[in-house]
Amino acid sequence: MSQSTLPQPKPEIGRPRRRIVGEQKVTGTATYAAEYAPENLLHGYVVNAKITKGRITGIEERAAREVEGVVEIMHHLRRPKMGYFDMQYSDIDAPPGSPFRVFYDANVQFNEQPIALVLADTFEAARYAASLIEVSYEEDPFDVDLHKNLDKARKPKEGIDSILKPMPPDDYGDFDRAFGEAAATYEGEVYHRSQHHNPLEMHATTTVYEGKGKVTVYDKTQGTTNSQMYVSSALGLKMSDVRVIAPFVGGGFGSGLRPQYQVLLSVMAALYLKRNVRVQLDREQMYTFGHRPETLQRVRFGASADGKLTAVSHEAYAETSRFEDYHETVVNHAGVLYPVENVHLDYQLVPLDRFTPLDMRAPGGLTGVLAVETAMDQLADRLQMDPLEFRLKNYAERDQSTGKPFSSKELRACYSQAAERFGWDQRKPTGQHPRRGNRLVGHGMASGIWDAIMLPAKATARLTTEGKLLIQCALNDCGQGAYTVMSQIAADELGLPFEDVTFEYADSKLDASPVQGGSFTTGVVGSAVKAACFALKDKIFHLAQILDGFPLGDALLPDVTFTGGEIVLHADPSVRIPFTEIIAFNKGKALEVSKTNIPNPIKLKRYTRNSHAASFVEVEVDAQLGVVYLTRAVTAVAAGRIMNTQTARSQILGGMVWGISMALREETLLDHNMGKFMNTNLAEYHVPVHADIGELDVIFVEEKDDIVNELGVKGLGEIGTISMAPAIANAIFNATGKVVTQFPFKLGDL
Ligand code: MOS
Repeated sequence: MSQSTLPQPKPEIGRPRRRIVGEQKVTGTATYAAEYAPENLLHGYVVNAKITKGRITGIEERAAREVEGVVEIMHHLRRPKMGYFDMQYSDIDAPPGSPFRVFYDANVQFNEQPIALVLADTFEAARYAASLIEVSYEEDPFDVDLHKNLDKARKPKEGIDSILKPMPPDDYGDFDRAFGEAAATYEGEVYHRSQHHNPLEMHATTTVYEGKGKVTVYDKTQGTTNSQMYVSSALGLKMSDVRVIAPFVGGGFGSGLRPQYQVLLSVMAALYLKRNVRVQLDREQMYTFGHRPETLQRVRFGASADGKLTAVSHEAYAETSRFEDYHETVVNHAGVLYPVENVHLDYQLVPLDRFTPLDMRAPGGLTGVLAVETAMDQLADRLQMDPLEFRLKNYAERDQSTGKPFSSKELRACYSQAAERFGWDQRKPTGQHPRRGNRLVGHGMASGIWDAIMLPAKATARLTTEGKLLIQCALNDCGQGAYTVMSQIAADELGLPFEDVTFEYADSKLDASPVQGGSFTTGVVGSAVKAACFALKDKIFHLAQILDGFPLGDALLPDVTFTGGEIVLHADPSVRIPFTEIIAFNKGKALEVSKTNIPNPIKLKRYTRNSHAASFVEVEVDAQLGVVYLTRAVTAVAAGRIMNTQTARSQILGGMVWGISMALREETLLDHNMGKFMNTNLAEYHVPVHADIGELDVIFVEEKDDIVNELGVKGLGEIGTISMAPAIANAIFNATGKVVTQFPFKLGDL
């Protein structure tokens, strides 16, 4: 009997499955960081600075202390001992520089800097008391204006984060000559302001004081390990004295990649008062830390008369704080997407008196591709070429910027499948679509690209005494479905039904995990889970080999199949060894293996590894008012193996919505005179609502990648958003002839 005729469970990988925590999330039984309610809980409310730069000279707290229920007021003069060195405040996602140290001293470095914490028996008392605190300052001059400080732009300092966020390669070819000789050229700018993440769940931390300087911390974070390391080093605690738990996160979008100040304040207060403390930020305070950096880009693209892109210059100027060099990969993408010979790239930072920016939904990629892909359409227009035809004419078979081959690249299939689904052949040249009533109609498309990053990660797999599988990792999930996908990977590796797999997660006492971000979670942590499960399988098999009577004879691992909780011998499928028999043979003890998956850097380095996408969209633009309606959009994605078609589709839908947001809705408005963000609430900070979204369609293109990781997974977290925004801009151009250079495109920009 051959292996193929053995009863095989339907593979879990690739099938649609609801998130295992979905029901808890939609029924309100999921517990978020601010919902843990230990006894005698104190509530903390943060006081934020009302100046942009200077020093605190006095804190008048008498009135606040008289409020019933107020227990303590903490600030830089009243706090426990904290770390002295920058390094102690660092975290996995910290850019080069000197991290912000909350309550460190009297200095104010940015508007709304947290400067005091009121602790009271109720949140309301704390908040009211906070409003009575009077802070006096000595103010220094400040500058928060990007445009006025472009002359101070400089290259970012490089740090360890440059591994994940590569700096631009050196110029190659001769841009000036090629641009001068180009038959068609486009020069333009693209600008967007800062944007804030605005997850539905606001940042909060509930700290349980366990006695003897130990704490259990329920935190809003995208990395329990990261929070644990940060809190313990900043407060000088042993790692083992800080346990961070975060099973549910109500959206992150990058805002939880770095531990935010509320976690440190919550733990600090708990240690100081030896009590349980919750610190909950409100919506307005969600605008007081990291954000997508305001960025100005300049592009100069040139092409030959027959439509070959010959010259690309892409320059970007982005805000950062005075104390850290937050940087992202903005200008590198054109050289990877298109085989252009003459390239000039420059990325510079402008330090300003603001808080350090932070990764937000496809950081860098979204910004940069927005400029590249709108420039491509302008060039196509000058060449009187169809935008898709122009891109196909300039399709990169290898990465011209490094000369490396792609580990896999099915962008061509994305173009063709999405174009067909959309009906791209119906597109008319700019301004020639028939109107619909009062509305101009436009079709636009764009490409998307995102890195497939690999990192080491560790996981544990245990065969329980019941013969079921438990997998463990500190990984936590903002809602994408990581827990479900990890369980699917584990189920397939051991041939167990999905129901027999339990995933224990989101607890820093488990194996350390990278943050959930960068679209790398499935590839990185999934590979560790797979490796741990494989090692467990090996261990189970070795015991099976020495069972009494040697039922497997001299069979090796390839000679058996693990299925339905049994080991089946290919040569004689009547020989079946249940996992429970292995456990009995092991004296009733569970079997456990921990495994670190370390990607092979030499192999990976030989390839450029990217996911790709193409979006095709239709807009209607009100000819008088300039209001843009997105009627429909199709995005095709090539991201290697798709692990769970249901959660994958949701990821891309969400990404498309954020692309709409970038193109049409989101920005945080900064008052340059006050140094303060002004629209810090969801009434004035606009994100798309249902009426803004139209009909969205997602296609997954088949793509096989043996290089990127053993699972062949490239990640879906960010790729869905990148091609959408430029496609919308290009559709607006197609409808109106107006080149979109400021994002979001607004009523009145027509
Ligand atoms: Mo994402 S911006 O890597 O959370």
